[in-house]
Amino acid sequence: MKEKRPGSGEVPSILKWTGSKRSQAAQIARMAPPHARYVEPFLGGGAVLYHLAGDGTVASDLYAPLIGFWKLAQARPEALIADYAEQWRRLQDDLPGYFYAVRDRFNAEKRPEDLNFLMRTCVNGIVRFSQAGDFNNSFHLSRKGMLPASFAKAVQAWSARLRGVDFVARDYRETLAEARAGDFVYLDPPYAGNKQRYIGGIDEAALFAALDDLNRRGVRWALSFDGQRGETVYRADVPSDLYRRRMALISGNSAVAKVLNGPIETVSEALYLSW
Ligand SMILES: C[S@@+](CC[C@H](N)C(=O)[O-])C[C@H]1O[C@@H](n2cnc3c(N)ncnc32)[C@H](O)[C@@H]1O
Repeated sequence: MKEKRPGSGEVPSILKWTGSKRSQAAQIARMAPPHARYVEPFLGGGAVLYHLAGDGTVASDLYAPLIGFWKLAQARPEALIADYAEQWRRLQDDLPGYFYAVRDRFNAEKRPEDLNFLMRTCVNGIVRFSQAGDFNNSFHLSRKGMLPASFAKAVQAWSARLRGVDFVARDYRETLAEARAGDFVYLDPPYAGNKQRYIGGIDEAALFAALDDLNRRGVRWALSFDGQRGETVYRADVPSDLYRRRMALISGNSAVAKVLNGPIETVSEALYLSW
């Protein structure tokens, strides 16, 4: 088993994704116990993956175009960089018409390059789908997209870390079913009350049953879960027999405050640890 001691540091923004853990990723990664493989079944923008990716890492998400993006970044980073530079140039020539043309194309073809472009230029960088599963956020009028040179730097910074990762599009339970004793799993599921964001949703009882199963099989895990539903924030009900510690993660770069089964009042996110 190798022990990883991730340092602090910014996660380069390779993909804008709602609910990104970029501000907490280093804190979360430092909690990781020594492990055989790192497993991340709700990958999204993969902020924690940046710190913990290694040989044998399994990274999955239900949303196939998102996994398509990661595979492209892994296999053909230069093509991804060139595509973004070209799309960015075309946007400057045709604001906002080009955005809507790409949105139509994405909804028809699901090109991962277009997902990247839309996320970088849509209102507040928020991923949002219609009931039919179409991306339906609008163009962010004051946002002309990250400069291509900055995007290229982010992709290059990620490149070496992606080498040993197996990216898979599937439900988290399939990924957890394959986790083995000695692996470490970080889970960052969508909030239960969120109907519009992301494709799919989470049934809490099923999630808790899956965590219980990991415990029985000797797989250590950490879970981000803040119980925010709609506009209401309240303490989420993760059954206390499932975890050993609950940490309060302060947003931003503040230190981790340790709260053992006490109320979390002033913080935005809780991190539950199974060991
Ligand atoms: C809060 S985001 C993860 C954010 C990520 N930690 C980051 O730093 O960007 C939750 C992710 O779970 C995915 N998801 C939703 N339902 C899922 C399911 N049943 N199985 C796997 N992934 C799912 C969504 O597509 C979304 O990307």
